[in-house]
Amino acid sequence: MNILVIGGGAREHSLVWKLSQSPKVAKLYVAPGNAGTGLIAENLNVQATDLQSLAQVAREKNIDLAVVGPEVPLAAGIVDLFQSRGIPIFGPDKEATKIESSKVFAKDLMHKYGIPCAKSRGFSSFSEAKDYARSQKPPIVVKADGLAAGKGAILAYSIDDALNALSAIMQDRILGSAGDQVLVEECLEGKEVSLLALTDGKAVVPMVPACDYKRVFDGDQGPNTGGMGAYSPPNFFDTETINLVKETILEPVVRAMAKEGKPYKGVLYAGLMITEDGPKVMEFNARFGDPENQVMIPRLESDLVEIMLAVIEGRLDEIKVEWSDEACVAVVVASGGYPGSYKTGFPITGLDMVDKDILVFHAGTKAEGGVIHTDGGRVLTVTTTGKNIAEAREKVYNNLPRIHFEGCHYRKDIAQREVC
Ligand code: AMP
Ligand code: GLY
Repeated sequence: MNILVIGGGAREHSLVWKLSQSPKVAKLYVAPGNAGTGLIAENLNVQATDLQSLAQVAREKNIDLAVVGPEVPLAAGIVDLFQSRGIPIFGPDKEATKIESSKVFAKDLMHKYGIPCAKSRGFSSFSEAKDYARSQKPPIVVKADGLAAGKGAILAYSIDDALNALSAIMQDRILGSAGDQVLVEECLEGKEVSLLALTDGKAVVPMVPACDYKRVFDGDQGPNTGGMGAYSPPNFFDTETINLVKETILEPVVRAMAKEGKPYKGVLYAGLMITEDGPKVMEFNARFGDPENQVMIPRLESDLVEIMLAVIEGRLDEIKVEWSDEACVAVVVASGGYPGSYKTGFPITGLDMVDKDILVFHAGTKAEGGVIHTDGGRVLTVTTTGKNIAEAREKVYNNLPRIHFEGCHYRKDIAQREVC
């Protein structure tokens, strides 16, 4: 089979790495990919947001399976476009992607079908949103409705902060049309975990749970990022809880989407808070997680091509999805200044110095004149598995100092609390 992976981050590198191990693969392409994917697949110079060019290149390369990494092409309807051209593609269509691309839609759905989530109300009027926020007890969460690259949720510790957030989103329009509507939401307390599930619209197969770290500095300090590290499995999230989430959240939402005329196929990401009252949904995403994928995919033992075909062809209940019992830890290495402004183009040294069992998934990297340079904010995810979290963590942190570029930084406390 000829396979095309769409995207260029470490999430996509982990997918390409896993797909490349399938005996079913003849040729693997990535658009646009990065220096890491270029070592195991052919990078195509087409952006993940350029839907027409992607469809054209898929036809030219006789693609038998396309896999979408990021949410933006999904929300723009890449699945609908590929389906209309008869090209098999893994991911939900535009209507089903609303579960991520409209938080108001997702919330209305959860309230309508009794899926446990934070209490909230949606607004398109600034003055009504303000009045409602004033009536709430802080902390409260203000969220933009649309896609905002991880910047759409603001945790407000006072009413003033909430009003400022509403004004920034709805009046100053700092997130553009993503802020046409907002949610004002109850702040949930507990432990955060991501549980993703594969679904063909009928069968729902949870994957292994993972935790990610959003803040840039140790101790969860500093601004939010796209993710600075992850680990799997979290010891507080046992099989019983996975089954509970499957029964109370994942299966009901897949049934609800079908009932609403938006059948969901692909991978469904539930961002959960494990509260005193049980697991509640904070968000749904219509795709694999980043950096969650970098700790989930190394634990996957089954053939990813088989899984994706089973999802597309509606026969997920006929296959077994198997995982290793090992633990996995991933640490993101970022450019100096990230998540604020940063420079790129620095040579990266030491990539060939890491131990054999270390996986280095690339994100913002570029090969120039045979040398790999930085080309983004999050540059690499350094990952490994071990018999437990402590072992995986130690291996990753022993190897990290061998990799270097000017200004590089990473968190030193990924998965630390899991070990104590
Ligand atoms: P979201 O964009 O909805 O995933 O939110 C981003 C992050 O904000 C989440 O990963 C949580 O850390 C936090 N968050 C979102 N919603 C809530 C909530 N209702 N209560 C507490 N924290 C939240
Ligand atoms: N790790 C958060 C996300 O993928 O949305």
